[in-house]
Amino acid sequence: MSKYFIQTLNKTGYALSEILDDISKEFVENARNCKLPVLEIGAAYGVVSLKCLRSGSTIIANDIDENHLKVIYEDAKESERKNLILMPCDFEEIKLQENSISSILCARVIHFFDPDKLIRCLNLTYKWLENGGKAYFTVESPYLKNWNHLPLDFKKRREKGDIFAGYVKTSDYINKGEIANNLPEYMHFFDEYNLKEIFEKCGFTIEKSFLFSRPYFPEEVQLDGRESVGLVARKN
Ligand SMILES: C[S@@+](CC[C@H](N)C(=O)[O-])C[C@H]1O[C@@H](n2cnc3c(N)ncnc32)[C@H](O)[C@@H]1O
Repeated sequence: MSKYFIQTLNKTGYALSEILDDISKEFVENARNCKLPVLEIGAAYGVVSLKCLRSGSTIIANDIDENHLKVIYEDAKESERKNLILMPCDFEEIKLQENSISSILCARVIHFFDPDKLIRCLNLTYKWLENGGKAYFTVESPYLKNWNHLPLDFKKRREKGDIFAGYVKTSDYINKGEIANNLPEYMHFFDEYNLKEIFEKCGFTIEKSFLFSRPYFPEEVQLDGRESVGLVARKN
């Protein structure tokens, strides 16, 4: 297994041990200048949230598993904790006011959502952001070596106009083993086009949407340098 992969406590894949992609780095940079709090959804052990705290941002760290958030609290310095708000709950159970958040990071979480839940969550994301606020998302693409014929099936469904072409039953594609054991029954993958289309449907203006490589993923996962999608979208 990659040294950058840390097993989650709730069978939701692996958290990254460092801030490794441009979307997460941009979120941290942008958070320095935000007047309202920023929000990290599915923060796991808080690599990004802790970096934001250390840069002086006020951050709301969310995760569905409270035990992940306890690690963030323990790792935060006493003096930083006043700027750390923990929200242990499902994405769609987060209670925040309209226009109350400057930016939101959701890294490697929405591949666990079915299409309806995804739309509900993006509508909430839009609602919580202030005007001009930004959503930073990363998610896995279908171009993963250990998912066998997924790229082909994704292409076929896309050609038929299926915007949720990457919503699949895990056992139909992935070989049994350590990675499969840490994943839920259904998974949802995206490319740079359908992710953009889905965000646009929810009212966002897209600043960028692109495929990128994850050279630090385990070799058995890397296919051809298109492992993930990154997206930055704006409210208004
Ligand atoms: C694959 S890990 C990614 C962690 C981290 N964002 C990263 O990029 O390394 C997915 C995380 O999302 C959390 N998660 C999964 N479903 C969630 C949901 N519905 N609401 C909030 N968090 C969720 C999991 O508990 C886990 O910590």
